[in-house]
Order: sequence, then structure tokens, then C-alpha cells
Amino acid sequence: MPVNPNTKLNTGAIMPTVGLGTWKSKPGEVEYAVETALRNGYKHIDTATAYSNEAEVGKGIKASGVPREEIFLTTKLNNPDMGHPKEALEYSLKQLDTPYLDLWLMHWPAPMTKDGKADKSIDWLDTWRGMVSLYKAHPDKIKAIGVSNFCVEYLQRLLDNSDVVPAVNQIELHPSCPQQEIVDFCVSKGIVVTAYSPLGSDGSPLLKNEIVGKIAQKYNVPPAIVLISLQANRPGVNVLPKSVTKERIISNLNVIDLTDDEVKELNEISKTASFRACHPNWTGWGNLGFTEAV
Ligand code: A2P
Repeated sequence: MPVNPNTKLNTGAIMPTVGLGTWKSKPGEVEYAVETALRNGYKHIDTATAYSNEAEVGKGIKASGVPREEIFLTTKLNNPDMGHPKEALEYSLKQLDTPYLDLWLMHWPAPMTKDGKADKSIDWLDTWRGMVSLYKAHPDKIKAIGVSNFCVEYLQRLLDNSDVVPAVNQIELHPSCPQQEIVDFCVSKGIVVTAYSPLGSDGSPLLKNEIVGKIAQKYNVPPAIVLISLQANRPGVNVLPKSVTKERIISNLNVIDLTDDEVKELNEISKTASFRACHPNWTGWGNLGFTEAV
């Protein structure tokens, strides 16, 4: 099937299939990256309080001259803020200098203390309930809510205890971490899956992978395009390539259609070479229910 340039959320909102990721985009680089992306056709920007770059992302949006209402903007509730979501929301809006978020995600189901330890006094489900209350009370400030880094077990617990189905679950997805079980579950519940680290993050071996190279050669595109397109070709999935390099930012938007066999072949790379760019145990909460590539 040809790649759909837009993904529809369960709220009815449209989320562009390719967005700019900003995890690891350094201060002094990210404003330019966001401005460049928006000036060259991107309409979807992803950030997080944890990335410490929301203010610069906001500046990049302003510098681009693209009207706010034409942009789909996502940010995420930080782990140490899970006991006070209202203040965290206001902080993000202020940093981004925007009246509203198109999507507000719980970054991890892993409350943490300010000094980086697991905070076992907070249940992430209570935080989700707080996000739901804010979403219902302030539709002018939050257009959709969702989660990130949720496995099936955690999603099921959330669904069993919430009258709001998350619009999105943002997780790591690339050929060495395909997480098909989570994708299938989300699709069955009407939850869009957003792929972060689609290239495998910094210094990824996937850019030199033989299968990726073979498919790149067939279509005469860079290996990065095959990796980004893989996610854009998976039903119910959209994708956030991160770059701070002008040529790459521009190039990364040019996703191509892959055959079902190519999608399968790429995802099978995980059978012999699996890894995560972001292991959940950095939160102090263990594997958080993830089984693949951990
Ligand atoms: P940079 O930001 O310096 O351009 P991911 O999206 O999986 O997190 O991967 C991000 C990493 O991939 C960054 O190191 C980024 O470098 C690099 N990258 C992004 N786009 C491309 C591309 N088209 N070709 C090669 N490397 C890329």
C-alpha cells in the first residue's frame, strides 16, 4: 500500500506521518533543525521536557514563520513531574511559547525522583488519571493525550482503568527492535504507534546493514530512507527521524513505498541483530514489561 502522508488519531485529528525527532538534539542545534524542517515541508515536531530543548523548539517554530495551527506539536510529561502533571503542562506550554499542544504524552510509565531514582510512592496510573482530567478540563490547551514506552501489559492495565484511550503510544522501532506484538495490540485498540529512533539512533549499525543496503540500492535511495520508510509502511505506525543536519532533515522526508516482503525482510533483521537505543532500565524500574531486545 502507498504510504499515507497523514495518520488519523482516535480523536479525529490528523498527524503527519513523518515528524522531526529531537531526542539528543543539542542546545544550539535544535532551533535551526526545527526551523529548517518546517521551512522544508515538515508539519510535525516532537520534543519532551526531558530533552531540555522545549524553549529552543519553540524558537525554531517561531523562526520558521509557519503558522502554529499548521504544525502538529508533541511534548511529553517528564518522569520526575509525574506527581504534579498540571504544573508540568504549564511549564511545557511556557517553554514552547505555545497556547496548546497537539499531543501530550506520558514519557515513561516510570515515576522518578528529581535525583534520578525510581519513585515508588507514585503509581503511573494515577498520573494518567491526572492527565485525563487536564485533557477534559482544558481542551483548548491539550488536543490529544497518549503514552510513550508502554508495553502491552501496561497498556492493558491503562485501558482497564480509563475511559480515554490513548491517541498514541510512542516507542522505539527499527529493524533491530520491531516490537510487532505492541504494534498489533495498539492497532487493535485504535492507538497510533509512533516510532522513535527509526534509524537506531547515533552510530547505528543499521545504516550499514546488508539487507538495508540491498533495498536502498534497488530504489536508489540512502539507507536512512529505507529505515524511515519501513516504519511509515507499517499499518498504524508513523515515524520520527531525528537529525540536526540540513541535508538529512530535507532528505528524511522523502519516504518511499516498500513491498510487504521487504517490510518482513527488514523486520527479520532483529532475529540475528537485536538492540535497543534506549533501554527501559535506565529509569530504575527494570524492563517495564518489555521483552524484545532487552
Ligand atoms: P545528525 O542528527 O547529526 O544528522 P534516530 O532518528 O534513529 O534517532 O537517529 C538519529 C541519528 O541518525 C543521528 O545521529 C543523526 O545524525 C543520524 N541521521 C539522521 N538522518 C540521517 C541520514 N539521512 N543519514 C545518516 N544519518 C542520519
